[in-house]
Amino acid sequence: MLGPVILAASRSDRMRRLISAAPVTKPVVDRFIPGETVGDIVPVIRDLTGKGLEVTMDVVGEDITAPEQATAARDAYLELIGRLKELELGERAEMSVKLSMFGQALPGGHELALANVRPVVEAAAEIGTTVTLDAEDHTTLDSMFAIHEELRKDFPQTGCVIQAYLFRTEDDARRLAAAGSRVRLVKGAYKEPASVAYQQKHEIDKAYVRILKVLMEGEGYPMIGSHDPRLITISQELARRAGRKLDEYEFQMLYGIRGDEHLRLAAEGHRMRVYTAYGTDWYGYFMRRLAEKPANLQFFLRSMVSK
Ligand code: FDA
Repeated sequence: MLGPVILAASRSDRMRRLISAAPVTKPVVDRFIPGETVGDIVPVIRDLTGKGLEVTMDVVGEDITAPEQATAARDAYLELIGRLKELELGERAEMSVKLSMFGQALPGGHELALANVRPVVEAAAEIGTTVTLDAEDHTTLDSMFAIHEELRKDFPQTGCVIQAYLFRTEDDARRLAAAGSRVRLVKGAYKEPASVAYQQKHEIDKAYVRILKVLMEGEGYPMIGSHDPRLITISQELARRAGRKLDEYEFQMLYGIRGDEHLRLAAEGHRMRVYTAYGTDWYGYFMRRLAEKPANLQFFLRSMVSK
């Protein structure tokens, strides 16, 4: 029951100001967002990749209100890519981007987001890696898929995310499961109405399996974005049935969640990519993590009371 309330708060400016300013927030935030600057995050990338994991890097930020912020987002990713070049990790370190941070919701936002994200995709390709377009709320997805298609004309390895909770996603998966595509399947983290999305966990889980089957049986490269132990076991079975080798799909999990499982899957020979977020505009990302697991909220509230 708490999840939807927290997700509503994740879009409230008043709550943003309150929670961002509370001194007790920081230690809880650090669990999920292990740095604010590129300088903070480079040792984290070294540590994770040194353990045999791969990373996808997210400079946190979304729902910007001015075109200059979109330019700043582009520059933040370009700075990161500059540092990744020195680390010579190639596709072991890729980028995840939210188009709302690149101006998608502003007037003329579709073109603005495309113009700002293209140099990031280009720079990533120059260092032998790629970019995945995150999926935000359902109203943004037609634009996201159109930008994805446009980018793939020059950079076919550009990935995108699809969300199992949306009714539309099985069709999207069929369209996207073609040779050369890279598609991350997640359950979905936004507050969506019953007119477009399943609301019950068991329905979302069932949809996840149906869609994953489409991806596994298709010709693209599936990226399984979930921490759910049941879905991970099912994914391994679906991959086996589809005759996929270990390097023909990958698991992805968020930094700070089920870290032992990251290492276990990597030790089994799986490609395991850790979605690692950093930056100062962490509010929306952090609130979605609280909404996913009520225990996180209890921990957060306890730390506020005990101060
Ligand atoms: P589920 O929520 O059922 O969790 C399974 C288990 O994992 C829980 O029982 C718990 O042990 C653990 N767990 C999950 N979330 C936790 C948390 N926050 N804190 C502590 N433990 C937790 N969504 C989206 O809409 N657009 C996107 O682009 C992305 N991108 C993305 C990338 C990657 C790599 C991942 C893993 C996830 C996303 N998501 C996302 C988020 C996704 O939609 C979903 O909200 C979370 O992954 C939680 O769902 P699970 O599949 O983990 O299952």
